[in-house]
Amino acid sequence: MIKHDVVVIGGGLAGMRAAVEAAERGADVAIVSKMHPVRSHSGAAQGGINAALGNREEDTPEAHTFDTVKGSDYLADQDASEAMCEDAPKQIIWLEHRGCIFSRMPDGRIAQRPFGGAGAPRTCYSADVTGLVILHTLWEQLERFGVKVYEEYFCTALAIEDGIGTGVVAYNMRNGQLELITAKATIFATGGAGRMYLKTTNGYASTADGMGIAYKAGIPLMDMEFMQFHPTTLKENGVLMTEGARGEGGYLLNAAGERFMFKYAPNKGELASRDVVSRAEWTEILEGRGVDGCVLLDLRHLGREKILERLPQIRELALDATGKDAVLEPIPILPGAHYTMGGIETDKWGATRVPGVYAAGECACVSVHGANRLGGNSLLETIVFGARAASHAVDYIKSVGNVRPSERTLKAEQDRVNQLLSRNEGTRAPKLRHAMNETMSKNTFIFRDEAGLSEAVSEMDRVRKEFDANAYVMDKSSTFNTDLVNTFETDFLIDAAYALAKGALHRTESRGAQSRTDFPERDDDKWLVHTLAFREGDGSPRLDYSRKVTITKFSPQVRTY
Ligand code: FUM
Repeated sequence: MIKHDVVVIGGGLAGMRAAVEAAERGADVAIVSKMHPVRSHSGAAQGGINAALGNREEDTPEAHTFDTVKGSDYLADQDASEAMCEDAPKQIIWLEHRGCIFSRMPDGRIAQRPFGGAGAPRTCYSADVTGLVILHTLWEQLERFGVKVYEEYFCTALAIEDGIGTGVVAYNMRNGQLELITAKATIFATGGAGRMYLKTTNGYASTADGMGIAYKAGIPLMDMEFMQFHPTTLKENGVLMTEGARGEGGYLLNAAGERFMFKYAPNKGELASRDVVSRAEWTEILEGRGVDGCVLLDLRHLGREKILERLPQIRELALDATGKDAVLEPIPILPGAHYTMGGIETDKWGATRVPGVYAAGECACVSVHGANRLGGNSLLETIVFGARAASHAVDYIKSVGNVRPSERTLKAEQDRVNQLLSRNEGTRAPKLRHAMNETMSKNTFIFRDEAGLSEAVSEMDRVRKEFDANAYVMDKSSTFNTDLVNTFETDFLIDAAYALAKGALHRTESRGAQSRTDFPERDDDKWLVHTLAFREGDGSPRLDYSRKVTITKFSPQVRTY
């Protein structure tokens, strides 16, 4: 049996940051990950990481907090947002001191670019490969501390004994064995759920694993209806074209060659917040001013040199996928599913309501993003809350004696997987996943209404029940059984999608990324509350609105850009 004081599930930025913090504080910590850490989806983050570094006098952590809260359409908890924005400059310096190569201004200071919804250029970057650069910096720190990484272990269940978390059960993909991993503290850092949609910027690994595991163990998911649609993704494959492109001065054009954003956001134009820009693009497309179902991202006026220096990756990605060279011609883009703003409910230390169980990064809902996340705050969230969750966990384990290995969770998982594998016919996961992708993309996209959302809820209910009754794994082998792993992932995605659809149906207002054509106004009297989804025995979500939004300094105002 594997045993550590702290186990971190997931090897992306939040997971590695948590592991390094725990190691620096002297804990025995390990990472359990379905893939090698530097292959995790964090490496796809392009444009940058926000921090009020003081490069400009007017930019302060308080200004950053205000922009974050306004960006969230006032749904973010303000104490958590303050914690994030105040810690941001320290974390950037922490990364820099560990060798993170940020792009620089001519005088040597860390360069910062403008991003959407921000009152000042606040986004630190490494060209347009920021996530990858930070990922490698943290990997070096893991090596430095000799943190054990259980790679190609797929975590399937959380163990809870006597009301506290005692570790996880994980499926060893190399030999098909389920193994018990006992720990005094477990930190989920498993990323988002973008793969519930047909088109997404998310890697194939973004399958709501930690969310599904925590949810099945009784921990609520929070604010799942708020999926962020990034304004600039490639039609061909959903790949991200960074917001940094607009930060560097890129334009959005419609079929008439008009820079349409100023109709929708007179002050900020292309640098309004993402929900506003995505809605504007989709409106242009729906009203017939698109180009082949897209609008255009035009970088030509930036010039070859600037594009190659600041945006080399997206130029290559667009060239590969579309054959279009951004130096010479505009790139067709459209909004696509990008970031899961909801997730495992935590407090501002990443602690869930089960002692010894934490969540950080995209799988968590702290909540600092509310109804709409600002670009550049996701990398920040991984670093700040990875570190905070680990520091809380390291304090927590000091008060916990030896925890009891949960043999019964291991046995329950063995029985469940054996039962799944013993079925010789039924419905395979890809079919169910496709049904989910179809209904979520059609009914829970940028504009939503009761009819579409009701259809999504009833389809997700059908998919949930079909999975439980008939999910069939054709491959019975024990070595790298990707059919089985895909089935686990689909199970988790179904739970996340069902919670999203039901939360969106019941929230009868428009706020941030939830835009209801039948309820076009924000309703602060009724809806300044978080949506908690608890999993019922039949797999359906039970919604609860007992958690109010925490407001400290910023009263809700009309939100314009
Ligand atoms: O557009 C981007 O580079 C994405 C950044 C983010 O989601 O924070």
